[in-house]
Amino acid sequence: MKKIEAIVRDEKFDDIIKALEDSGIGGITVTEAMGFGRHRNGLKKKMKLEIYCDEFQVDKVVEMIRRHGKTDTTGDGKIAVIRLEQLFRIRTGEQGANAI
Ligand SMILES: Nc1ncnc2c1ncn2[C@@H]1O[C@H](COP(=O)(O)OP(=O)(O)OP(=O)(O)O)[C@@H](O)[C@H]1O
Ligand SMILES: [Mg+2]
Repeated sequence: MKKIEAIVRDEKFDDIIKALEDSGIGGITVTEAMGFGRHRNGLKKKMKLEIYCDEFQVDKVVEMIRRHGKTDTTGDGKIAVIRLEQLFRIRTGEQGANAI
């Protein structure tokens, strides 16, 4: 399992979410964020997305976020793919991929 953590443009957020709704992911957590990249031009408002998913979903999800998040100008954001050791569904106690 992986956690995909993406920092994206506020103005691209709706397009990205629309695409992800139909992508087969189990769920998503969204947080308003502030940050800067290499250009150090002050803190800018960004959206942070966190998705717990199976390995086989990673390439598709990353590609979707890129396709819908890109403007080809500086500040488009980052996507991190992070190893996820364990996941629990609180209600049922299911673990691992069954908890996605
Ligand atoms: N190294 C980093 N660590 C954590 N967050 C980062 C990092 N780099 C960028 N971010 C987050 O991503 C947002 C967008 O970064 P940005 O796209 O400007 O990165 P960049 O490396 O400067 O790329 P670009 O050259 O396309 O601007 C930042 O506002 C910040 O929230
Ligand atoms: Mg930048």
